[in-house]
Amino acid sequence: MSFLDFGCGQGRIANGIKYLKLPFHSYTGVDTHELSINWCKKWISIYGPAYKFLHLPTYNERYNKQAEKLQKLPFEDNSFDMIFLNSVFSHMVTEDIQFYLDEFSRLMKKGGLLYITGFVEEDVPEMVENPTDYISENHGALFRVRYEKSFFLKQFTDRGFTIKAFNHQGITRTKQSVVMAIKA
Ligand SMILES: C[S@@+](CC[C@H](N)C(=O)[O-])C[C@H]1O[C@@H](n2cnc3c(N)ncnc32)[C@H](O)[C@@H]1O
Repeated sequence: MSFLDFGCGQGRIANGIKYLKLPFHSYTGVDTHELSINWCKKWISIYGPAYKFLHLPTYNERYNKQAEKLQKLPFEDNSFDMIFLNSVFSHMVTEDIQFYLDEFSRLMKKGGLLYITGFVEEDVPEMVENPTDYISENHGALFRVRYEKSFFLKQFTDRGFTIKAFNHQGITRTKQSVVMAIKA
């Protein structure tokens, strides 16, 4: 099983996979933040060749303002069994999540699982960056990008994913919701 951790940060999911001995034959972490990827290469790549990290500098107003706008992921079609994003779409505007969902649709094997967390609510506008009076005070650009539930889920189904589960504020610490979707 091949696993893509997009927006991997300092690779805490890689540590979980290693610790729990989960049955992935390859783990690939990608992030736009170079220092994080350098840290992962130094401290996590030593787990073995199955753990790979890639710095892909793409523009994000919060995490990388120097980079060019978005760029495609340098992997072949149908490469991954699971694509995982913890707290990444929570810091992206609609245009960006549409770009990446197109990419994930291309990269995911048929039947593969997409796991994404984000700030998702009902009876709110389609997308709001840093909404006031929501969860807690805001701290800078793209601190919290909130989506309306049916609009958010439609982004997945429009790109060939079937929603398997939606868990509202399933991540209790951050109050992010969890979407699990299968590539049809
Ligand atoms: C809140 S952190 C979460 C990190 C990690 N997933 C975790 O749970 O520990 C968001 C991460 O997404 C990354 N990120 C944001 N936009 C990105 C993009 N366009 N391409 C790659 N990484 C991105 C940031 O650099 C940051 O490491």
